[in-house]
Amino acid sequence: MPNRSHFNAAHRMMNFIRKEGVTHSSDRAFVLPEKTHHAVIVSDAAELLRSVRDASIQLVVCDPPYNLDMASWDRFNIYSNWASSWLDEVPRVLKDTGSVAIFGGFQFQNERGGDLLDIISYLRKNGRLRLINVIVWHYRNGMSAHRFFANRHEEIVWFAKSARYTFNLDEVRVPYDEETKKQYLRDPRLKPETIEKGKNPTNVWEIPRLNGNSAERVGHPTQKPLEVVRRLVKALSCPGDIVMDFFAGSGSTTRVCVEEGRHSIGSDADPMWPDFLSRQLAQLGALALTRYEILRGPTISSHPVFQGIFQEEPVLPQAATPAVHMAETR
Ligand SMILES: C[S@@+](CC[C@H](N)C(=O)[O-])C[C@H]1O[C@@H](n2cnc3c(N)ncnc32)[C@H](O)[C@@H]1O
Repeated sequence: MPNRSHFNAAHRMMNFIRKEGVTHSSDRAFVLPEKTHHAVIVSDAAELLRSVRDASIQLVVCDPPYNLDMASWDRFNIYSNWASSWLDEVPRVLKDTGSVAIFGGFQFQNERGGDLLDIISYLRKNGRLRLINVIVWHYRNGMSAHRFFANRHEEIVWFAKSARYTFNLDEVRVPYDEETKKQYLRDPRLKPETIEKGKNPTNVWEIPRLNGNSAERVGHPTQKPLEVVRRLVKALSCPGDIVMDFFAGSGSTTRVCVEEGRHSIGSDADPMWPDFLSRQLAQLGALALTRYEILRGPTISSHPVFQGIFQEEPVLPQAATPAVHMAETR
């Protein structure tokens, strides 16, 4: 029986690329744009997505609420009905090379539903996306437990729009430890330049969760570590691409995009989120100020980077709070 795993297809493609001498996306040298542009929107996720044109976004970073009662935004009667309102739009807005990375866990479900298994199952039944990896985000810090094994992982599922998805492995390789490196360098079968590049980070990522007193913290209850978001952004998009996060929360994705030379569309229903983002950007210091521009309101759809991204009559609600002038908050 033929093995139809997409991993074999990927291996076949890599062999073909090598034979033909074609440059694979992982061999490209990246040049960061001098300045990037970042749309800051306050909106319901599904409503905003409906205003985005087909095939216009390279990467969606998605960290939704899971009905855990973490905050007022984390309560739903029928979770799957709500989730489908934005999940249905994601495949449509992704470019052919694009991906969506969805954060979550497998053990959060309560009687009203809602965990990553629900989302995976929904996407596999209803979507046109292909599952590439389930990434286990493992951390050593967490809550203690007495009635079950204390939880030390969450998951991130990576779905791609098509077989042409972007994966910049060289951008996210991790260095070998000195001992292993020395050993490999002595092995004549291995190329020194390949060893220098480092190793594939695998689909198990050990990255600490943010502690309450972490310097990265800007006050959002479910803020994700920059290192996790950075690995996704660098691997699944290229400099100058557009990355979208419609559950922006503390603005971690926008901040990573500023640092890594991607344009971004950040949005959250919470009118406080631009304030969290201001705190994130303040941590970058004054030097970064010339490298990015924050756009709000009608200036977004008329900006050259975002022109054509929104439908003719874009639904771009203004922030409910007075506009935050990012440059002034540093
Ligand atoms: C898990 S948090 C995201 C945290 C974020 N990844 C970070 O690192 O800070 C989920 C976010 O979804 C937002 N949210 C909840 N319901 C929403 C909706 N219908 N539309 C847009 N945002 C929503 C909440 O305000 C919250 O900030």
